[in-house]
Formats: sequence, structure tokens, C-alpha cells
Amino acid sequence: MKTIPLGGTGLRVPAIAVGCMRVSGMPEEKLDQHLLYCMEQGLNFFDHADIYGGGKCEEVFAASVKRTGLRREDMFLQSKCGIRPGMYDFSREHILSAVEGILKRLNTEYLDMLVLHRPDALMEPEEVAQAFDELETSGKVRHFGVSNHRPSQIALLKKWVRQPICVDQLQFSIPASGMVASGLEVNLDTPGAADRDGAVLDYCRLHDITVQAWSPFQYGFFKGPFVGNREQYPELNQALDQLAEQYGATPTAIAAAWIFRHPANIQLVAGTTSDARMAEIIRGSEIRLERGDWYRLYLAAGNILP
Ligand SMILES: NC(=O)c1ccc[n+]([C@@H]2O[C@H](COP(=O)([O-])OP(=O)(O)OC[C@H]3O[C@@H](n4cnc5c(N)ncnc54)[C@H](OP(=O)(O)O)[C@@H]3O)[C@@H](O)[C@H]2O)c1
Repeated sequence: MKTIPLGGTGLRVPAIAVGCMRVSGMPEEKLDQHLLYCMEQGLNFFDHADIYGGGKCEEVFAASVKRTGLRREDMFLQSKCGIRPGMYDFSREHILSAVEGILKRLNTEYLDMLVLHRPDALMEPEEVAQAFDELETSGKVRHFGVSNHRPSQIALLKKWVRQPICVDQLQFSIPASGMVASGLEVNLDTPGAADRDGAVLDYCRLHDITVQAWSPFQYGFFKGPFVGNREQYPELNQALDQLAEQYGATPTAIAAAWIFRHPANIQLVAGTTSDARMAEIIRGSEIRLERGDWYRLYLAAGNILP
């Protein structure tokens, strides 16, 4: 299994994280098989959030770990907090109580990584720093990260937070590649030039923050998969099909390879609940796309090169 450095931690982790947002509806047997399959393949990095399935995703995951006899210490468990009904909340009290809930549902004494899910407009970084210190000192959380944050928000946190911010989890896929487009269309009046993220990709590379790509096979905001969606993405699917043949892989593997080809060592967070699909994504991690093929896919998704 391809591995990548995890931020500045000195750890290496699988380039594919197993996204657990969709596991709550899985039949027990299928979930058990899925976790066993992932672990057998070396995919031991699991991405959760306290809100997935209203907490059920963490619960059914822990129950499956128990049934299958998998060992918690062989896993890297990441979860997120900070989203509450009708608000975001990075207060010290909420972060601490959210982590208690996560640990209970995941049936574990510690989290390998705690991620702040979405920027909270009312964030007081001093409070986040207090919460992180308490969680680190008590041994309840080993590493910290953020999700959907722009560089200035990370910098604001870093002014008070002592622990390194190891990851920023962001939406990234061939059609949802604004992070790349804004860096290619600098200073133009083209739509892709809009700086929607504060050059977060460059910032993360400069500061040893691992970018984790969420919804790597979706377009829009949870609009559905683009792979196989020939009506919406005819050109992209034609290119995926042709390259799949060329590389002896499937279109899904090629879409995954597109993310792995970026030199930022992006960790792909795969949300599939299918072992067969996960096998395709693993295959994608073994493919190094030619430079021209990477750009061809980028253009086929409707992006431009000035
Ligand atoms: N930080 C955030 O704000 C945030 C937001 C969203 C998600 N996430 C994380 O990112 C993970 C992945 O998100 P996601 O599930 O939306 O991403 P995804 O991997 O792009 O999508 C997976 C979903 O697409 C389906 N699918 C259909 N065709 C597919 C194909 N050709 N290749 C792959 N999947 C295909 C899968 O069905 P099958 O199960 O049948 O394969 C599954 O329902 C989540 O589990 C969660 O951990 C984070």
C-alpha cells in the first residue's frame, strides 16, 4: 500500500483513508467484511466525524471492530467535531464534550487525530488551544488537524495552539479542483481564477500539512459521482475510459490516480462501502499518470489552461 508522510508528525500513513460517513446503513456482515478487507490491504486509517449518521457511524464501526476481533491499536482513528445542529462550535466546553462522546462511541481511550470540522465564525483560538492542551495532556488525543479551513484561519489558530496542525481535509476531485485552478489562472478574470481558498494547497505544502481529499469521486456539493455520469461529464468520462484502457485499469482507478499524481502527497478519503470499488482505488494508487494525461483529465472536466 502506498504511504505518505502525515503532516510533520514523522509518521507514514496509507495514501487512502477509509471514509466512514456512509457506514451506518451497511448490514453488519458487509461492514465486518469491509473492515477486514481494508485492514488486510493495509488500509488502517479511518476517517470519522461525530455527526456522521448522528453518531451511529462511529457506533457501528466500533461494534464491527469488536465482532471481527480487529485490534484498535493496529488502527489510526481520526474523528471530527465542531458541527452542531444549526451552528458551529469550537468552544472549549464543546470540543471537550464532543471528544468524550467520540471516545465512547468508538469504544477507545484515545483518538489518533482530532479534526475541527468546519470553521466556526465565533471561534476564540485561545479556547481551542486550552481544549487541545487538555486533550493532549490527558492522552485522549495524539494529533490535531482541521477541515475546510483556509490558510488565514489555520494561521489564526496557530497563533495560540501549540500542537502542529497536521491535516486540512478539503473537497478535492477532478471536477472539484478549484484549489488547482486558482493557482493556474492567477490574476485573470476567468471563473477559475477566483481565490476561494486562500491558496490553501500551497500553504499546506509550505507548512507540512497533509491535504486530505474528501468526496474524491463526487462533483458539486454532494451532487453525486462524476465517474460514469456521461450526461453531465461526457468529455471527462470519455477521457477516463480511454486512459483506463491505456493503463489497464478502471475509470475509478484513473480518477483516483489523478489525485495521487499531485506532488502534495494528498491523502484520498474514500467513501466507498464496496470492497470491489476499494480495490479499484488501491489500483489507482499504484498508477503514475503521465503529465499530459493528468492535464488532459483536468481539461476534460471543463477547466482551462490560460
Ligand atoms: N470534511 C468534510 O467536510 C467531509 C465532507 C464529506 C465527506 N467527508 C469524508 O470523506 C469521505 C468520502 O466522502 P464521499 O463518500 O462523499 O466520497 P466518495 O468516495 O467520492 O463517494 C463515495 C460514494 O460514491 C459512490 N460511488 C458511485 N460510483 C463511484 C465510483 N465510480 N467510485 C467511487 N465511489 C462511487 C459510492 O458508492 P459505493 O459505496 O456503492 O461504492 C459511495 O456512495 C467520507 O466518508 C468522509 O469520511 C468529509
